[in-house]
Amino acid sequence: MTDSPADVLLVHGGAPLEGEIRVRGAKNLVPKAMVAALLGSAPSRLRNVPDIRDVRVVRGLLQLHGVTVRGGLGSPQTPGEESGELILDPSHVESANVADIDAHAGSSRIPILFCGPLLHRLGHAFIPGLGGCDIGGRPVDFHFDVLRQFGATIEKRADGQYLEAPQRLRGTKIELPYPSVGSTEQVLLTAVLAEGVTELSNAAVEPEIEDLICVLQKMGAIISMDTDRTIRITGVDSLGGYNHSALPDRLEAASWASAALATEGSVYVRGAQQKSMMTFLNTYRKVGGAFEIGDEGIRFWHPGGPLNAIALETDVHPGFQTDWQQPLVVALTQASGLSIVHETVYESRLGFTSALNQMGAHIQLYRECLGGMPCRFGQRNFLHSAVVSGPTKLQGADLVIPDLRGGFSYLIAALAAQGTSRVHGIDLINRGYENFQQKLVELGAKVERP
Ligand code: EPU
Repeated sequence: MTDSPADVLLVHGGAPLEGEIRVRGAKNLVPKAMVAALLGSAPSRLRNVPDIRDVRVVRGLLQLHGVTVRGGLGSPQTPGEESGELILDPSHVESANVADIDAHAGSSRIPILFCGPLLHRLGHAFIPGLGGCDIGGRPVDFHFDVLRQFGATIEKRADGQYLEAPQRLRGTKIELPYPSVGSTEQVLLTAVLAEGVTELSNAAVEPEIEDLICVLQKMGAIISMDTDRTIRITGVDSLGGYNHSALPDRLEAASWASAALATEGSVYVRGAQQKSMMTFLNTYRKVGGAFEIGDEGIRFWHPGGPLNAIALETDVHPGFQTDWQQPLVVALTQASGLSIVHETVYESRLGFTSALNQMGAHIQLYRECLGGMPCRFGQRNFLHSAVVSGPTKLQGADLVIPDLRGGFSYLIAALAAQGTSRVHGIDLINRGYENFQQKLVELGAKVERP
C-alpha cells in the first residue's frame, strides 16, 4: 500500500455500536444551496452546514468567483455566528482563473452546477473534468444537453468545458431521458433566471431537490411541481438572498442505522427525519431492525434474534435510494436466507461486495435484472444484481475503500467482524460523513490510526 498512515484506520471489530450521534445538513443538498446563493443580488444565510469535503470544495470555488463567505464550519469566527452557518455574499461575482478552478474542484461533481448561475451572472463559465465516486460511468450528457436547450454554447477543450450565453438564457421544454438528480438541479438553477417558462418532465423529486426548490422559492423564484414528475419554473428578472436550515442527511442517517443493525447495537441518530426516510424505514423493519421515531431523531437497533432475508430494488425517489443500498447489504450478510438486491440507478454499485466476500460473506453478482422489473442495465453486461446468502460470520481483513458509501460499508463490515481490519483510503469518507471517526469513538467502536 502506498497511502499514508493518516489515511488508514485500524478497526477492531466485534463490539456493538451503542449511543447517540447527530447528523447535520445533507451532503446532497448543502453544496447545491451554496451554489444557489450565486444567483442572488443579496447575501444568503445557510444553517445546519456539515464540515465535509464537498462543502469545502464549493466554498473554495465560490470564493474564487468573488463570493464572500463568512461563518464557520468549525468554530464561529465572529460573536453571534453559529458553527455550521455560512453567510454567502454574491455582490461582487467575477470570473475565476481556469487553472485555479481546476485546482479547487478536486474530486467533487458539484462544479457542473455552477454553469447556469455563472452564465446568468457573467455570461460565461468554465467547468473542469469532474470527479465523484466511481460507481458507474457517471456521464454529464444530460447536463450539457439541457444547457444547450436554454441557449448556451459549449466548447469542449482539453482542460474542460467552456460555456457561453450569447444572450439571456431562455426558458424551454425539456424531457429528461432518466430522472437524474444533478440534471434536475441543473435545470432548476438555470431556469429560475431564464426568460419565460421552463417545463421539465421526468424530473427527479428527491427530498434534497424539494429542499433546493424551497431555497430558490425563498430567493424569489416561481416553481411548481406536478404529481407526474413535471416541474414548471417561471423565470424572474432577479432573485434575492435566502435564510435556510438545510434538511438533515437521510443518507448518513441510514448508514448509522445499518451500522446499528450489522453490529447488533443501538444508535440514536439525532436529526434523522421520518418523512425523508419512509422507504428506508419500511425496508429496515422488513429485515427485522427496530426503530423508534421521536421529534428530534430516530433510534435504530437490533432487537435480537435472526434477521430476515429480503428482496430489494433501488430506484429514484420515492423508491429505495441507491445510497442506502451499500450499508444495508452489510446487514443483509447477517440475515437468514437469500436476499436479492437489484441496483437500478448505477450500473457498477455492487463492486464493493467482493471485499465483503473476502471477509466471509457469500454474495454472488449477476448481469440479469433479478427481482421486480427489468431496468436500463439488463442484458448489458453490468453486474448489477446480487444474491446475498446469510448469515455468515465476517472476519477482519485488509480493505481498500472504493467509493464513499462503499467505504462506509467497509467500516460497518469491519465493526461487525471478528478481529482487526486495516481500512485504507478512509479520507474519502470525509467527503460525505462529518467527523465520522469521532462519532465511531462516541459509539464505542474500537478504532485507531496505526
Ligand atoms: N446520468 C446520465 N447522464 C447524465 C446524468 C446522469 O446518464 O448527464 C445517469 C447516471 O449515470 C446514473 C443516473 O443517471 O446512472 C442517475 O444519476 P444522477 O444524475 O441522479 O446522480 P447525480 O446527480 O450525479 C446524486 C448524488 C448521488 C446519488 C444520486 C442518485 C450528489 C452530489 N450526488 O448524483 O450521491 O447517488 O444523485 O440519487 O448529489 C452519494 O451521496 O454517495 C452519491 C453518489
